[in-house]
Amino acid sequence: MIYPIAVYGHPVLRKIAKEIKPGHEGLNEIIENMWETMYESDGIGLAAPQVNKSIRLIVIDASPLEDDFPELKDFKKVFINPQIINYNEEYDIIAEGCLSLPTISEEVKRPTQITINYMDVHFNPITETYHGFAARVLQHEHDHLEGILFVDHISPLKKRLLKGKLTKISKGDVDVEYKITVPPTLNRGKRR
Ligand code: NI
Repeated sequence: MIYPIAVYGHPVLRKIAKEIKPGHEGLNEIIENMWETMYESDGIGLAAPQVNKSIRLIVIDASPLEDDFPELKDFKKVFINPQIINYNEEYDIIAEGCLSLPTISEEVKRPTQITINYMDVHFNPITETYHGFAARVLQHEHDHLEGILFVDHISPLKKRLLKGKLTKISKGDVDVEYKITVPPTLNRGKRR
C-alpha cells in the first residue's frame, strides 16, 4: 500500500517520534508499505513521520546514486530506533531535497562521518559508522525523527526567500507526482 507523504506544515513532521518496541503491531507491514511508498515517489530515504506515523523508523535505499557516491553501493537498509552516537569534526556542504518539501533543494552543511546505533528488523542491536553521502542521508532521515527538516539548517535569509514556496507546499499547491497529505486544518487548499 502506498502511503501519502506528509508535506511541510503537517504537524506530524514536527513531533518527536516514539521508540518502537519489539512486537510493535503491524511493523512488518508498515516497513513494506514504506519501501513501496519510497520507490513510488523516487525517494532514496523515508522516515515514518513522513507517512504520518510518529515512530522511530527509517528506510533507506540510496544505491541508485552509487555511480556518483561509491559509499552508497548496496546501501539499502531498515533502521529501527536509530541513535547517532558520534559525529566527526569535518563537514561538507551538499544540496539536499526531501519528499516532504517537494520542489525545494538547498545546500546543507553536515558532518561527513557518523556512528549510529540502531536495531535491524529482528531487533538485533547494531553499531555502524557511515561516511560521505551515506552519513548525510542518515542524518537527514534521523532529523525527521526529531521533528527537524533540512530547511531548519539553512540561513534565516535563505529560509525567508523560501517562505512563499513553503506556504504553497503547506497548502498542497505544488506540482508533485506522488500522493501528498497537507496539514489537517488546510485541507480546503488546492491539491492534486
Ligand atoms: Ni526528508
